[in-house]
Amino acid sequence: MHHEQKKAFPTDFLWGSASAAYQVEGAWDEDGKGPSMWDSFTKIPGKTFKGTNGDVAVDHYHRYKEDIALMAQQGLKAYRFSISWPRIYPQGKGEVNEAGLIFYDQLIDELLANQIEPVLTLYHWDAPQALADEYGAWESREMIEDFNQYCITLYKRYGDRVKYWVSLNEQNYNSNHAFITAMHPPGVHDRKRFYEANHIAFLANAKAIESFRHYVPNGKIGPSFAYSPSYPASSQPRDMLAYENAEEFQNNWWLDTYCLGHYPQVALRYLEEHGLAPTFEKGDIELLTKGIPDFVGVNYYQTITYEFNPIDGVAEGKMNTTGQKGSNEDTGRPGLYKTKPNTHLETSNWDWAIDPIGLRIGLRRITSRYGLPVFITENGLGEFDKLEADGSIQDDYRIDYLRSHLEQCREAIADGVDLIGYCSWSFTDLLSWLNGYQKRYGFVYINRDEDSEKDMRRIPKKSYYWYQQVIESNGEQL
Ligand code: NOJ
Repeated sequence: MHHEQKKAFPTDFLWGSASAAYQVEGAWDEDGKGPSMWDSFTKIPGKTFKGTNGDVAVDHYHRYKEDIALMAQQGLKAYRFSISWPRIYPQGKGEVNEAGLIFYDQLIDELLANQIEPVLTLYHWDAPQALADEYGAWESREMIEDFNQYCITLYKRYGDRVKYWVSLNEQNYNSNHAFITAMHPPGVHDRKRFYEANHIAFLANAKAIESFRHYVPNGKIGPSFAYSPSYPASSQPRDMLAYENAEEFQNNWWLDTYCLGHYPQVALRYLEEHGLAPTFEKGDIELLTKGIPDFVGVNYYQTITYEFNPIDGVAEGKMNTTGQKGSNEDTGRPGLYKTKPNTHLETSNWDWAIDPIGLRIGLRRITSRYGLPVFITENGLGEFDKLEADGSIQDDYRIDYLRSHLEQCREAIADGVDLIGYCSWSFTDLLSWLNGYQKRYGFVYINRDEDSEKDMRRIPKKSYYWYQQVIESNGEQL
């Protein structure tokens, strides 16, 4: 018997693009918004490239209509954005700021009026500074209920109009930089605190999903995971074991906990033996099992290759450091493995390995391990773009990058992956958390740099028109 060959994108495929509040909105203290941890952190000298911050960002707060008009013109089917928690709760909890809610009402309504499906991220790293001051934000269990209340407010307000929700964005990447490399707030080097804060974040994620079931019963929700599938450096058994250990710590630690409701035993054993395991309280395990998502949100940029590590980083008390320009290497990893550059892959100007096949491999791994639908919530290329004298931006390298990844998505769908959508990162150029405005990801160029806001003009790049035709042909013409 012949099976019909399923080698196309589904007709209701969500062709999207993404952003995050702190990276685009600006208006950091307008209409009653409170400061976030990022508002404070980026103002500490030396934390970001040339001291850049999101005070103005790309002024999306005032120009969202213009931006959405560009999305509509491109034919975008979905737009992923995040809500700034301190815009809704300036103190993190307590009194709600109606003006903040109104801003997102308008944004959502404008998207819907243009037939663009809103994909709402509840948390993209900008926790209220007030909660950091009061109890250390993610380091206290108080965060679980405060986050839950904030989410419930959003469910009640937008649940009638928003179907797709992302709970936590890149808990893995963000916590790694928050508690291991100290490059994100609160800027700590402490592995014990890393695992404790993550445990709290897992519980908050589960609690928010449990509430979601009650308030938005017809919606779909899942976390966005910074997914770097691993490769072994060689077929030597000790490299293979190192790679498997890396998978347990770097991927399964997060994805199993989200999707299966428990930590992987291999990693847990190691952490217990080294006094690093998180503290469990009564009810934790039960709560985790209530937070199983509807889909796995995947933010894919690269794969990472691992080899045997003769030095146990924990025993030696060693901590590597990473450059600001560099990769998302986990410097807080246990000594069971270490990374090795993959000489088969080319790297971007920011040293990120470019690996479209790795995306297909990752999608298949998620499907076989969890059996859940997948939503690619980010994928894209950060590069220096050049505004030509004729006013165009010839970003063929970005087109190549996106095309090759979408080709692998198409293959993955034929392989049986239930892929519901794809959001490129990003729609417009935006603030890179640490790298300012030199590193551009957008379909739409923003005429500003770190030193000057210039005129903030929006200029569609060549890739904008390319994606327009991809959407128009539902992925037939890549
Ligand atoms: C992941 C994050 O979610 C996003 O905020 C960031 O800008 C991109 N990756 C690129 O690093």
